[in-house]
Amino acid sequence: MLQRSYSIPTPHPNHFFQIIMATGKNGKTSEASSRLYQPSNRIVTLDEFIIRSEKDFEFATGELTGLLRDIGVAAKIINREVNKAGLVNILGVADGSDNASGDVQQKLDVYANEKLIECLKNSGECCAIASEECEDIIQVEPVFSKKSNYVVLFDPLDGSSNIDVNVSVGTIFAIYRRKSDNSGPATREDFLQPGIKQVAAGYVLYGTSTILVYTTGHGVNGFTLDPSIGEFCLSHRNMRIPENGQFYSVNQGYYSKFDLELRRYIDHCSDQNYGLRYIGSMVSDIHRILIQGGIFMYPSTRKYPKGKLRLLYECNPLAMVVEQAGGKAINTQLKRILEIEPKELHQRSTIAIGSPVMVNELQEFIERYAALPL
Ligand code: AHG
Ligand code: MN
Ligand code: MN
Repeated sequence: MLQRSYSIPTPHPNHFFQIIMATGKNGKTSEASSRLYQPSNRIVTLDEFIIRSEKDFEFATGELTGLLRDIGVAAKIINREVNKAGLVNILGVADGSDNASGDVQQKLDVYANEKLIECLKNSGECCAIASEECEDIIQVEPVFSKKSNYVVLFDPLDGSSNIDVNVSVGTIFAIYRRKSDNSGPATREDFLQPGIKQVAAGYVLYGTSTILVYTTGHGVNGFTLDPSIGEFCLSHRNMRIPENGQFYSVNQGYYSKFDLELRRYIDHCSDQNYGLRYIGSMVSDIHRILIQGGIFMYPSTRKYPKGKLRLLYECNPLAMVVEQAGGKAINTQLKRILEIEPKELHQRSTIAIGSPVMVNELQEFIERYAALPL
C-alpha cells in the first residue's frame, strides 16, 4: 500500500474527493462500490478500484478488468508523449524524420493508435480492435490460448489538431461483448452494435492534469494521474452532471450552415446570455460540461450532412458516460444516440449531449422549427 502522504484540497461542492457512495443502476448503491467508501485521505488507485469493482460486472471473469488496466497503461504512455510534444524540436529531429534515439518521428495520433493496439495485443484480453485511425478491424491473436469475449474501439487522440498549440486532447474508448462465438475470429458485426450494448466506456483527457474517466454502467468515476507516483488516483467519485448549465458548445463559425432549428436554439442561448465555450476537442468540451453543466452540439453542416463525429468511436462512448452521470445524448433527429443501430464502422452522427434540461430545451426547438421551410 502507498505510504505517501497526500495533500487534500478543500472539497469541491460537486466532485473533488467527495465522500459519496457510488450508486448503480436504479440509483442503488452497488455492493462493490459501497466497499470502496472510505475517508477522503485514503488513496485509491485505478487498478485497485477496477479490481474491487469486478463483482459489478455481469460476467466477472477478469477480462474486462484486464482491458481497463491495459487502457490505463496505454494512457500513461500516451500522456508522456503528449506532454513532451512541444519539446520535439528541442530534443532534436536530425533530418526532419528521426528523433534522438533513432526512431522515426510520428504524428501523435498515429503514435497513440499504435500504443493502444500494442497494449491490448500484449495482454490478449480482447479478441479484436477497431480504431478511428484504421480502415478495418484488427484481429488480436489469443495469448496463452485464452479465448476473449470482448472487442475494443477507440479514438486514440481526439482533437489532435490542438497538439501544436498546447491545447488539451484526449483518448476515447468503448468496450463491447462480442456477439460471435469465441472459438473463431471476431466479425464486423461484433462492432456494429448499438451503444446501449457497451459494457464499459470512457475517456482520458490530457489537460492541465491528466484524468481518466470511465463507466461500466454503475456510475462514472474519474482518476487523476499523479505524475510523482505514476498512478491514476480516484479524484472524482460518482460524477453527476448538473441538471442545467450556463454554457453552450458548438462551432459557431458554421452558424450559417446549420439548419434553422439549430440557429434558433443558438440565438436563444445568446439571448439567455449563456457563455460560448468551444475547445475543438470533444473530450475536453464534454469533460467541462460533465463538471460545470452545459450542452455540446455538432449538428449537420453542408460539409458534413450526417454530422462530423464518429458514432462508434466518439458519440457512443461519450453518450454512455454522460447518461451514466445523469445527462442526455441525442442526434438532431431526436433519436437517443445509444439506440442508433450502426451500419458502418466509421459512421458519422450528429449529436447534442449534456445537461438534461438543456438537451430537452434543444429538443423543443427542433420539434418547433424543424418542419418549417427555410
Ligand atoms: P479528431 O481529432 O479525433 O479527428 O476529432 C476532432 C473532432 C472533435 O474532437 C471536435 O469536437 C471536432 O472534431 C472539431 O471539429 P470542427 O473543427 O469542425 O469544429
Ligand atoms: Mn475525435
Ligand atoms: Mn482522433
